[in-house]
Amino acid sequence: MNTQAKAKEIFQQPVTTSVIRDGAPQGETAPRVVLVTGGTGAIGTEICKKLARLGHIVATTYRNEDKAKAWQEALKKEGYTFHLYKCDVSDFDACQNAVKNVIQDLGPIQIIVNNAGITRDATLRKMSHEQWRDVLTSNLDSVFNVTRAALNGMLDTGFGRVINISSINGQKGQFGQSNYAAAKAGMHGFTKALAQEVASKGITVNTVSPGYVETDMIMAVPEKVRASIKSQIPVGRFGTPEDVAHVVAFLIDDASGFITGANIAANGGHFMD
Ligand code: CAA
Repeated sequence: MNTQAKAKEIFQQPVTTSVIRDGAPQGETAPRVVLVTGGTGAIGTEICKKLARLGHIVATTYRNEDKAKAWQEALKKEGYTFHLYKCDVSDFDACQNAVKNVIQDLGPIQIIVNNAGITRDATLRKMSHEQWRDVLTSNLDSVFNVTRAALNGMLDTGFGRVINISSINGQKGQFGQSNYAAAKAGMHGFTKALAQEVASKGITVNTVSPGYVETDMIMAVPEKVRASIKSQIPVGRFGTPEDVAHVVAFLIDDASGFITGANIAANGGHFMD
C-alpha cells in the first residue's frame, strides 16, 4: 500500500474516546467537586467558569456577601451554577468549617484551586506590620488552611489535584511587594513539599505563576508603573484571566497525573526561569 492510501485508511478509522466508563464513551475527565478560593475575583471567575464548562461541580469561597450574591446571580443568567461558601481563608477554623460544609453538600473535594489573594503594596521602610500580616495570612496561610482541611478526602478517594495560584512576583520579586513576593514564593515551596508527600496517592500539587493579568489589582498600580511593566512583556500585552484558567484546566485533567511539583508560568515571556 502506498503512503497516500495508508494515510487515507488511517484517517477513515472511527474516532474513539480515550476513556470508556461503564461501556459508554464519555469525556476524558470525570466530573469532580472543585473548591476554588476567591472565585468571585477576575481570575477566580474565569477558573470557575472554565471548570464548570468541563463538567465539574464548582464551589467557591467568598468574604463579601453582597458582591458574592450579585456574582452568583449574574453567572446564573449565563447558565452557570456555582456553590458559594462564606469563608475568610486566612482563618483556620473558618476553612475547616467551609470544607466540611462543601463535602456535606457536594461530596469529597478532589480539586482545590488556591486562588484567593490580596496585595498591600508598600516599600519595606513604609510597610506596617498589618500590611505584612494581612498578605501573609491571606495568600500563604490560606493555602495551608484549605489544603489541610481537604487533603484527607483526596487521600480517601485516591485522586486529587491541588493548584496554587502564585505570581511572577514570587519568582522575580517586585519593588514594593516584599510581603506579596514572600507569600507567593512560599506557595511554591509548599507545592514542592506536599507534591512529594502525596505523589504516590494519586494526588498532584502544582503552582501556576501568572504574570501581569488585566484585573483590578493591576489597575491599582500607578499608571506610569503600569506602562513601564507592559513595555517589559515580550508578547506585548497583559495576560487575561482566560490565559490563567487555561493552565488550571490543563493541570487538573486526569491525563496530567505525571505533572507534579511544577511551577507553570503564564506571563507572556516577562520572566523566564
Ligand atoms: N524600581 C526602583 N525604584 C523605584 C521603583 C521601581 N520599580 N518604583 C519606584 N521607585 C523609586 C521612586 O522613583 C522613588 O525614588 P526617590 O525616593 O529616589 O524619588 C522611590 O522609589 C519611592 O519610594 P516610596 O517608598 O516613597 O514609594 P511610594 O510610596 O511612592 O510607592 C509603591 C511605592 C506603592 C510600591 C509603588 O511603587 C507601586 O505601587 N509599585 C508597583 C508595585 C507592583 O508592581 N505591584 C504589583 C501589583 S499586581 C500584582 O501583584 C499581581 C501579580 O501577581 C503580578
